[in-house]
Amino acid sequence: MQISFASLELPNDGAVAFLVEKDKPFTGLAAETDASVSGALSKARDITRFTGASGQTQDIVAPAGLNVDRVLLVGIGERDKLSEVDWVEIGASITSALASSGSASVSIVADAGGVEAVSLAEGALLRSYRFDKYRTKEPEAKKPTLRQVKVLTSDPQGNVDNFASRERVSDGVFMTRDLVSEPANILHPESFAQEIRGLSSLGVDVEVLGEAEMTKLGMGALLGVGQGSAFESQLVIMRWNGAGKDDQPISFVGKGVTFDTGGISLKPGPGMEQMKWDMGGAGTVVGLMKALAGRKAKVNVVATVGLVENMPSSTAQRPGDVVTSMSGQTIEILNTDAEGRLVLADALWYTQDRFKPKFMIDLATLTGAIITSLGHEHAGLFSDSDELAEQIFKAGADTGDKVWRMPIHANYDKLIDCPTADMKNLGGPGAGSITAAQFLKRFANDVPWVHLDIAGTVWSEKDLPLSEKGGTGFGVRLLDRFVADNCEG
Ligand code: BES
Ligand code: MN
Ligand code: ZN
Repeated sequence: MQISFASLELPNDGAVAFLVEKDKPFTGLAAETDASVSGALSKARDITRFTGASGQTQDIVAPAGLNVDRVLLVGIGERDKLSEVDWVEIGASITSALASSGSASVSIVADAGGVEAVSLAEGALLRSYRFDKYRTKEPEAKKPTLRQVKVLTSDPQGNVDNFASRERVSDGVFMTRDLVSEPANILHPESFAQEIRGLSSLGVDVEVLGEAEMTKLGMGALLGVGQGSAFESQLVIMRWNGAGKDDQPISFVGKGVTFDTGGISLKPGPGMEQMKWDMGGAGTVVGLMKALAGRKAKVNVVATVGLVENMPSSTAQRPGDVVTSMSGQTIEILNTDAEGRLVLADALWYTQDRFKPKFMIDLATLTGAIITSLGHEHAGLFSDSDELAEQIFKAGADTGDKVWRMPIHANYDKLIDCPTADMKNLGGPGAGSITAAQFLKRFANDVPWVHLDIAGTVWSEKDLPLSEKGGTGFGVRLLDRFVADNCEG
């Protein structure tokens, strides 16, 4: 989607979108246009009972006396009450309404300049994404037609720089959506690592460790998960140095299980296809690095993703196996389906050991239990740092990638103690997401740490305001904003 800013003039082609407040008359260019067609827009508004309530849209096609394809009335409710997220969602509702409408362009009359115009543009862009590379027989009438969005404001030039950085962040969101959408026969540990190498064109330093190197490092926890797969497990390290050479880096760590069958503790068949996006944590971390490098964030960042495939086979690990992690701590595997924490255990330990970061933020589709707790609205946030938790909470409220803090406590930690080894990879029976977080904390080595359980937010079975059914890209805008507000300059 091509997005640009232009001055406030009625276009001579494509669609035009007017933003209308609830129960208020047309204003500005909308009022002028309505007058020029003898009140035809007001009439259409009355006939269709369009009030301007938030979420309402009304399409008026081929309006006589105007050169445009159509006028789209977009309800915005009460303008004074709109948050940044609301503006983004309004922009998104416009591309959603017009995507395959037949119109090739839309001019959104934004009137107000500044943040609103940029947010409208961002939303329009985010909602334009679709993953359709494998649809070869889509009927012509369903194919998208909209290619261009112009946001009309009194100060078009004033929005260009601000939007450019949002556009780079959207590139990151789209990369994450692409990665989580790819099926596991295409995106496996080796091809995923190859995909990440592509970030080097943005100035990201990419390093890939294979099984031989990880064996030398003693990463028995991560390697155990991948040992039943025909693909070689990989640990990929990305570095973006946007600040001074000696600035201590911040760090992100992602779970990248390219397919989670459950291993020998096999998952049930129905719905198993969803486990292609069990690499969502890694996908988000990679998209975030693309965003940060793309907009040249002034911060040093290290990102580590553990890429493995969890398969049952004659070489797969068994329930009852004991593995030794890089930290030296031993783990009894009681359920091979609790594999994400094993991958993260070595990725977290490695990251703090080698890079001595200020803090580590891990992302993982770690537990089904977080969906029981929070559904699909909020990701679960676990942390031993109130400061980081609050900063990320705020970034969530500001971007719409919402998080909700969950507890950690020494009493939950006891639930993963084990007589056979230092710990077991299973807690319970209750508090499944919390005991998983307690497990990870044992590998953070007291470095300030945040764990985001994104199992409920990586993928949506229905269309959302900012994305179609499918990959959401959740977490990229969240953590980009967290970095921009707290870690740069
Ligand atoms: N990848 C799953 C968690 C998951 C479930 C993500 C549903 C997205 C949607 C994870 O590896 C897993 O299997 N967790 C188990 C843990 C249990 C065996 C302790 C779970 O949640 O059932
Ligand atoms: Mn699993
Ligand atoms: Zn998993």
